[in-house]
Amino acid sequence: MAFSSTLLITGGAGFIGSHLVRRFVNKYPQYRIVNLDLLTYAGNLENLHDVEQAPNYTFVKGDINDEALLDELFETYRFDGVIHLAAESHVDRSISNPMSFIQTNVFGTVRLLNAARKHWTDKSGKRFYHISTDEVYGSLGETGLFSETTPYDPRSPYSASKAASDHFVRAYFHTYDLPVVLSNCSNNYGPYQFPEKLIPLMIHNIFQQKPLPVYGDGKYTRDWLWVEDHADAIDTVFHKGTIGETYNIGGNNEWKNIDLVHALCDIMDELLERPADASRQLIHFVKDRPGHDRRYAIDAEKIKSELGWTPTVGAKDGLRRTAEWYLAHSGWLERVTSGAYLNYYTQQYHNR
Ligand code: NAD
Ligand code: TYD
Repeated sequence: MAFSSTLLITGGAGFIGSHLVRRFVNKYPQYRIVNLDLLTYAGNLENLHDVEQAPNYTFVKGDINDEALLDELFETYRFDGVIHLAAESHVDRSISNPMSFIQTNVFGTVRLLNAARKHWTDKSGKRFYHISTDEVYGSLGETGLFSETTPYDPRSPYSASKAASDHFVRAYFHTYDLPVVLSNCSNNYGPYQFPEKLIPLMIHNIFQQKPLPVYGDGKYTRDWLWVEDHADAIDTVFHKGTIGETYNIGGNNEWKNIDLVHALCDIMDELLERPADASRQLIHFVKDRPGHDRRYAIDAEKIKSELGWTPTVGAKDGLRRTAEWYLAHSGWLERVTSGAYLNYYTQQYHNR
């Protein structure tokens, strides 16, 4: 079959990437989707089992730092676009092991930029889309929102590595005319998120009646976005965004961590038919994360006014759907939390 476009999606076996790959494979049968993923602890082909046989989908296991592989893929597939999500994505891991974040998020992104620059001698119709985070803007006080013009002020090794990668993407636009577009998004939640992040970790621990570790005073604030809304926003920016521009993406859905954990406890008690307040008893305030950013919140006016995107799934609905999904997929949860991950995880963070 002749495809109208061939797109490289990196990190497509991870949390957000798997939702994006599923969306593109199903919605755009005229596109060939090549998913390049190293399958680290965070990548899992089970996340994509429903599309793996699709005629417009190809999976390649590999590293974005492998220059020879990138050359081979660009030569074989002659990509029209790249949507780059592959990354080390968890702040706590970046605190214990910053080097892997520099390796993947900075070097890996630059190697991908180099491959696009080398192979896209004719840049017409091409697009390199870098997926980034609002954490590059640093930390907010009680008020205010991050906009696209907020100065960068990354404060964790994770956000520093993403900020560096964003700068390289813009530098390749200005220096080499590489046709790039970027977006910086708030915290995502929903099915297939690895249970080291707040929401799936809490659901997992509530289910197993284990302690719920809340960092510091629990009043840290995040703006949560339903992951399929993010995939929709990426689709929008990829097709309609202006080359060289950045778009902030957010859920307009701020929660203090402790309020979010309370809400999850109540939803889970109801779903599991446990007595009211049973899960709240599991909450433990633990030692704070070093350099913990107090608050993130997004002004998503630009993507709304210029591209017409707004989030669709509200918090109560999204949290319930997430809890229901994890309860219905306890096998997935067991498989991704087995083995080396659990040892690493319990030693690093939750024995304090
Ligand atoms: P994730 O950790 O769930 O998935 C990352 C994927 O990248 C995994 O499948 C992993 O195997 C793959 N990967 C890691 N290193 C690789 C390498 N060297 N080569 C090829 N593949 C590699 O991450 P996520 O939460 O889905 O985030 C995806 C992207 O979105 C990241 O760039 C992240 O910074 C960004 N982002 C995430 C959030 C969020 O809330 N999760 C919010 C804003 C932006
Ligand atoms: P996380 O899901 O790690 O996302 P990020 O740090 O990228 O925002 O954490 C979300 C918030 O929840 C953050 O303020 C840290 C806090 N947190 C806890 O209180 N306990 C936990 O066990 C985890 C993983 C996070």
